[in-house]
Amino acid sequence: MKYSTSLLSAAVVAFASTAAAISVSGAAEGFAQGVTGGGDATAVYPDTIDELVSYLGDSEPRVIVLSKTFDFTGSEGTSSETGCAPWGTGSGCQLAINANDWCTNYEADAPSVSVEYDNAGTLGITVASDKTLLGEGSSGAIKGKGLRIVSGASNIIIQNVAITDLNPQYVWGGDAITLNECDMVWIDHVTTARIGRQHIVLGTQADNRVTISNCYIDGESDWSATCDGYHYWGIYLDGSNDMVTMKGNYIFHTSGRSPKVQGNTLLHAVNNYWYDNSGHAFEIGSGGYVLAEGNVFQNIAAVVESPIDGALFTAPNDSANQACSSYLGRACEVNGFGSSGEFNQADDSLLSKFEGKNVAAATAYGDVVSSVTANAGQGHL
Ligand SMILES: *[C@@H]1O[C@H](CO)[C@@H](O)[C@H](O)[C@H]1NC(C)=O
Repeated sequence: MKYSTSLLSAAVVAFASTAAAISVSGAAEGFAQGVTGGGDATAVYPDTIDELVSYLGDSEPRVIVLSKTFDFTGSEGTSSETGCAPWGTGSGCQLAINANDWCTNYEADAPSVSVEYDNAGTLGITVASDKTLLGEGSSGAIKGKGLRIVSGASNIIIQNVAITDLNPQYVWGGDAITLNECDMVWIDHVTTARIGRQHIVLGTQADNRVTISNCYIDGESDWSATCDGYHYWGIYLDGSNDMVTMKGNYIFHTSGRSPKVQGNTLLHAVNNYWYDNSGHAFEIGSGGYVLAEGNVFQNIAAVVESPIDGALFTAPNDSANQACSSYLGRACEVNGFGSSGEFNQADDSLLSKFEGKNVAAATAYGDVVSSVTANAGQGHL
């Protein structure tokens, strides 16, 4: 009897110390290197959606652990309105909510349609500075609402969380993760799926230093702006002074803006895996500076959309890739392609922008497919 009691206490102690020890796995590489989020704050486990909103938005440094799905669907009611159908009314086409009079101002020729959507999806949860949002195992999820890191927030880690089901049938139905006017943000092992608008969007103000790593951007959807089951609104990187590292991400089944890069944005896309895209992956507007190396593009109709108005270095061959050494401290890695369009531009003038910055390491593209498919997304820490 005594023996089994002490075994039980030992088990209780072990469980308690495991629960207290949950913490961020690994560390950010690239531009957001050094981000600490909520640091060593005692972990809190929200139980309700209101507690989650409160922990994310208050002014305390926090480690917030999600051990279940927080479902916001229905929590703010629904709206029934007149919207529009810019891509037609076919069953696979997204319709648009008339948000900010978008239909009226920009799609005046599109047929009017009735739309009914969930209000919670349309605006994400505010995330304040010094937060770590961490999913436990494969159970941390937020459904029906996204996250917004805006208005001067900094030092934030989001790891091992799924964000899903934001009015996927409607453009303007919601963005999964919004950044605008922030600094030092690390988004890691996040899965986004069935989203109305952007999976990840960096708005027009400065977003400074951001790392997006090991995420699974799942563009498979029953409704799409290209009416083909491939989500158009993937990753939108705008901003007046943005440096974004994208490493180890799995960008699947999209048809556009995956990513769109413009404003004044330096993007280092390294060791990502793009698979199965019916339109374009990169769209590079004025002020987009893109170094893409060590990635794999498989079944990507247009790896980059024409014209390219910004600057692009695609790490084309070993001799051209030596130009990276002066600024990144190493040569760049070539990309790998299968059944994909052209991606060949060697504007090495943008490489000087990497000088003195924290730059993610690169491996040869050969291991990218196996490592990304095994590691990317929530539940794959
Ligand atoms: C390497 O790429 C550069 C830039 O596109 C090109 O000028 C050069 O001819 C290429 N070298 C080889 C060996 O293919």
